[in-house]
Amino acid sequence: MKHKHLFIGLLLLIAALALAACAGTPGPEGPQGPPGPEGPPGPAGPAGPAGAAGTAGEAGAAAEMGDLSCTECHNDTTLIVGKKTAWSESLHGSGEAYVRGTNASCAGCHSGGGFSARIAAGLNPDEVAEGDPNPTRQDCRTCHQIHVTYTGEDWALESTDPVDFFAVEGATYDGGEGNLCANCHQPRRVFPGAVDGVVTGISEHWGPHHGGQAPMLLGVAGAGDVEGSPSSHYNMVEDTCVACHMGPDRVHTYEPNVAVCQECHSGAENFDINGVQTEVQAQLDELGDALVAAGVLSENGPEGHPTVEEAPEGLAIALWNWIYIAHEDKSLGVHNSAYTKALLEEAFAALEQ
Ligand code: HEC
Ligand code: HEC
Ligand code: HEC
Ligand code: HEC
Ligand code: HEC
Ligand code: HEC
Repeated sequence: MKHKHLFIGLLLLIAALALAACAGTPGPEGPQGPPGPEGPPGPAGPAGPAGAAGTAGEAGAAAEMGDLSCTECHNDTTLIVGKKTAWSESLHGSGEAYVRGTNASCAGCHSGGGFSARIAAGLNPDEVAEGDPNPTRQDCRTCHQIHVTYTGEDWALESTDPVDFFAVEGATYDGGEGNLCANCHQPRRVFPGAVDGVVTGISEHWGPHHGGQAPMLLGVAGAGDVEGSPSSHYNMVEDTCVACHMGPDRVHTYEPNVAVCQECHSGAENFDINGVQTEVQAQLDELGDALVAAGVLSENGPEGHPTVEEAPEGLAIALWNWIYIAHEDKSLGVHNSAYTKALLEEAFAALEQ
């Protein structure tokens, strides 16, 4: 502040000196000259020869090309509306989570426009400085480029670069087109660890945060002494999330497609392959009941949330893993059955502590 005042003072001084230097006595004004006479109009000239046919002007050419490239998408097929119908039914197209996009710490994942801006700027979600005052749902423009070149090229995905998880040190998701999804479906927190056997800072919103699917596929972000590893689905399913959740026809409901499972699990009729989902659900039910009984969880089920601000380490580990698997990943073991089972085992063991 002080420096600023000094600087302005200095500027005023220089201006005053300059004025003083210029203020000499002005010379006398010269007389105005007389206006010249108006000339007579000339005779009309003979008609010239017909010119060569001109080329279309710049504007005309652009309009013509624009029309053609627009129709690569805007035409009488269901190219756009076919995807739009499915998308409108999905949570991306109908959910209310986008309203959180007005907050800077949420905008990079919760607002479609905020996401596009974040990716263009190369920022992590926690580096976004401002909320989006006009947040949008996760719509066509969020995932696709749309109206950049105004050609069919604009179906290109906004990003398929590998994603370094901002909250999990050393973890990078590299699963083809699924990288697009992992930008948002990644965790915001890791298990904080205990001080003197007690974990503090627990709240209703505690946990890795809802986008827990990408870390589950990688086998990271759980609590306790569990060494996770990437699942077969991460390693073997080309384009990971996109393959299972959109299928070969790229259906925009984002619901997993059992026909895709059958490519590897022949005869599969649903997602409960080898009864894994049934088994995981049963363990979650048992663990949830134990957490409610221990007084750290409000209720066992989708509405359940932590009711304490701190907890002994064992209980906190069990609570974290329950939240991660039941609330955040939600695939009931499909994304990474080995890691899911190991986290549940660790939770039960931790409860005994
Ligand atoms: C890559 C495909 C693609 C191309 C090429 C394309 N559009 Fe679009 N356009 C879209 C999509 C997708 C939407 C959003 C559809 C929706 O939400 O209903 C859209 C929306 C629009 C809209 C509605 C308003 C808006 O912006 O959402 C207008 C108008 C429009 N496009 C005009 C054009 C014109 C003019 C061209 C050519 C100069 C063009 N588009 C080229 C895909 C395309
Ligand atoms: C811009 C961030 C973003 C991207 C990119 C994104 N999602 Fe989402 N996704 C969300 C948000 C936010 C929700 C919750 C929407 C709501 O509830 O309003 C969601 C919801 C979902 C749901 C529904 C979850 C439920 O509880 O039923 C599925 C499935 C899903 N996304 C899959 C995907 C897949 C697959 C991709 C990649 C093709 C993807 N998402 C890309 C942010 C994103
Ligand atoms: C790293 C990306 C990311 C950030 C940052 C983020 N979220 Fe989310 N959030 C998601 C995804 C993805 C989902 C949907 C996950 C699903 O349904 O499986 C979601 C879902 C939610 C939900 C559940 C859906 C609903 O609306 O009921 C709430 C609540 C939520 N987020 C709140 C927030 C708040 C508040 C912030 C900012 C303080 C925030 N999130 C920041 C990715 C993010
Ligand atoms: C959550 C992300 C997401 C959203 C939202 C989304 N798409 Fe897609 N879309 C994808 C992915 C991923 C693919 C597969 C890309 C590929 O395989 O090249 C795809 C493919 C497509 C294709 C086929 C493109 C091609 O190259 O043939 C069309 C058409 C399309 N989307 C239209 C739309 C329209 C229209 C909307 C809005 C109503 C929309 N998408 C919203 C992720 C999304
Ligand atoms: C091997 C196929 C496969 C892959 C790969 C996969 N998913 Fe899933 N996903 C599933 C299945 C199956 C479910 C459970 C659906 C059910 O039980 O109804 C599921 C559940 C989900 C859910 C919860 C949906 C709900 O309605 O509660 C979300 C969100 C999700 N996956 C997102 C993703 C994202 C993001 C990725 C990539 C990071 C991904 N998935 C990779 C198959 C897959
Ligand atoms: C590209 C091949 C491939 C696709 C596609 C695929 N899987 Fe898998 N899946 C595997 C492999 C490999 C394993 C690990 C070997 C095993 O345990 O059978 C596995 C394991 C599993 C497991 C754990 C089995 C157990 O006993 O622990 C479940 C559950 C599962 N897959 C479900 C699904 C579902 C649901 C889909 C479709 C949404 C799907 N998979 C799609 C290859 C695939």
